[in-house]
Amino acid sequence: MSESGIESMAKSSLKFDPPVQFASTAHVKSMAEYEKLYAESIADPEAFWAGRAAESHFFRKWDRVLEWNAPFARWFVGAQTNVSYNCLEHQIARGRGDHTAILWEGEPAKSDGSPRDVVRLTYRQLLVEVCRCANGLRKLGVQKGDRVTLYMPMVPELVIAMLACARIGAPHSVIFGGFPAQAIVDRLQDAKSHYVITADGGWRRGIIVPLKANVDQACQMTDLVKKVVVLKRCGNDVTMTAGRDVWWNEAFADCSDQCAAEQLDSEHMLFLLYTSGSTGKPKGILHTTAGYMVYTAQTAKYIFDLKPDDVYWCTADIGWITGHSYIVYGPLQNGVTVVMYEGAPNFPEWDRFWAIIERYKVTKFYTAPTAIRAFMKQGTGWPEKHDLSSLRLMGTVGEPINPAAWMWYHETIGKKKCPIVDTWWQTETGGILIAPLPGVTPTKPGSATRPFFGIEPAVVDKDGNDQPRNVGGLLIIRKPWPGILRGIYGDDARFKQQYWSQIEGHYFTGDGARCDEDGYFWIMGRVDDVIKVSGHRLGTAEIESALVSHPKVAEAAVVGYPDDMTGEAIAAFVTLKGGVKVDDMMKEELKRHVVGQVGSIARPKEIRFADALPKTRSGKIMRRLLRELATKGRVDGDTTTLEDFSTISQPADDE
Ligand code: WT7
Repeated sequence: MSESGIESMAKSSLKFDPPVQFASTAHVKSMAEYEKLYAESIADPEAFWAGRAAESHFFRKWDRVLEWNAPFARWFVGAQTNVSYNCLEHQIARGRGDHTAILWEGEPAKSDGSPRDVVRLTYRQLLVEVCRCANGLRKLGVQKGDRVTLYMPMVPELVIAMLACARIGAPHSVIFGGFPAQAIVDRLQDAKSHYVITADGGWRRGIIVPLKANVDQACQMTDLVKKVVVLKRCGNDVTMTAGRDVWWNEAFADCSDQCAAEQLDSEHMLFLLYTSGSTGKPKGILHTTAGYMVYTAQTAKYIFDLKPDDVYWCTADIGWITGHSYIVYGPLQNGVTVVMYEGAPNFPEWDRFWAIIERYKVTKFYTAPTAIRAFMKQGTGWPEKHDLSSLRLMGTVGEPINPAAWMWYHETIGKKKCPIVDTWWQTETGGILIAPLPGVTPTKPGSATRPFFGIEPAVVDKDGNDQPRNVGGLLIIRKPWPGILRGIYGDDARFKQQYWSQIEGHYFTGDGARCDEDGYFWIMGRVDDVIKVSGHRLGTAEIESALVSHPKVAEAAVVGYPDDMTGEAIAAFVTLKGGVKVDDMMKEELKRHVVGQVGSIARPKEIRFADALPKTRSGKIMRRLLRELATKGRVDGDTTTLEDFSTISQPADDE
């Protein structure tokens, strides 16, 4: 870790009080109430979470709220429950049966701009579909504990499949539909998954993403897959392999619509979700049943201040944790209407999001800073075409939001009347850990503000000593919370090393942060070899290993550098094998190669060729130097320069 990389950022003096009318109806109405509840949650977390869990349905109550054998936490020990039941029957029992659960629109638009495909499912209808799918999966041979891989577009059937898996205790592993075949293979193999659900294709910016073809390609690289269920979405031609592939409709249509939810142990695996770390291989983040369930329900309730008649829209893809926790599990447990959109934000025009908000009278809207910056660049004309007056709250997630984008969101979209919740969390945390409560917490643009109930964050130096206020350091979380990851699938050693060895006994986030004079947290970015491109997490090692898998590449080093639109962009420094010509064609070839291996989100923005990479005497690549070069020494349009690192003296110390 580079100590000097964590410098306190310039202080921002902007501060906004929550709108008065919002507080009057909010779940938490005053700062004093937040302070009191927060103090209780820290003083006696078990009593606090037992109280919160009382809002969920359990087939059998827990014997103990928390069992903490660091670094392994077990929550609601001895309890039996089912998350699918809590999203469906529990909501129906509360009188939400005929209320719209999912309000979906596909990407294709008619000539007047209205959507061609719209689906509305009530909670009762959703239950029927989930039961059919669950029975169908069982018929195909899926048993409790089997990992089911979902590689699907953003369609209602993806939610149905997740809830069906959860219902029968088959953990799901959702793979983002933008990932290539190689990423599918890696995840199938790590999860040892025999079942895949996919679609013929999905719509993205007017083009069909060939999901089934990618699965076919993956199946040529591994023989793990026994069954592939294929949803017909786009009607594009696909090849069906007899004995292995079945159409969704044929597999599920005449299955019974009754399927009792399995009574699962509180610590039964709910899902795996792969994310990048500082090694070359994505890790399977493991979340279990009861703790994740209670944590997503409660954070969604308080941070988005959810009420039954909310029309809530989170624009994330379900392929990321944001979609798992705040499209599916959190909102459905709060009985709201969840809006879901299949495609790109700028299709057919740059006002698609604002049109959706107007069409369905969206009340709560959750998106990413990178999207806000992209909209900002298109000007105020697009949002001004639409009536956005239904909006009551807006959220952001994925990376720090720069104050200019925050102000644009606040003024142009929220018309200065909506609180903005900047939510800090991670795939590993299961749910939001640091965020304002919308009715009470004054916000400061760029800060995720204060911790949620039960969360004890701290900023420390590398020996674990608390940093003084306003001094940057490592962000750790002192005690476990219900949504915390339970492990990295199949790799306890990596789990311990990654999260628990930096500061003994405390969860290490990998982020740098500072805490200001008001106890507000300011996230300062990653301190490890993880970069954030458009809010997506990418390991430098992952991209490097993709580069060196190209036959012409000898060595590669990848760094992130600041980018106005994507937050960070990728620069790759590459040495080629002898005799290979250095030119623009070669750059394009390498970019395409990375896209093919890791996905288009990993496409390097810049490739620079070097005779050799700068290394310390111990052979470690000097990333700090490369970062500096990528940040400051960029020569636009320069295509063939060979960086000459031979003139750089080689200091003995590692970075
Ligand atoms: C990393 C986690 C959690 C859902 C999306 C990303 C960064 C996330 C914020 C925020 C500043 C943020 C951190 C974190 N991050 N939210 N509100 N402010 N930084 O999940 O892919 O697991 O990435 O995203 O660096 O560690 P993820």
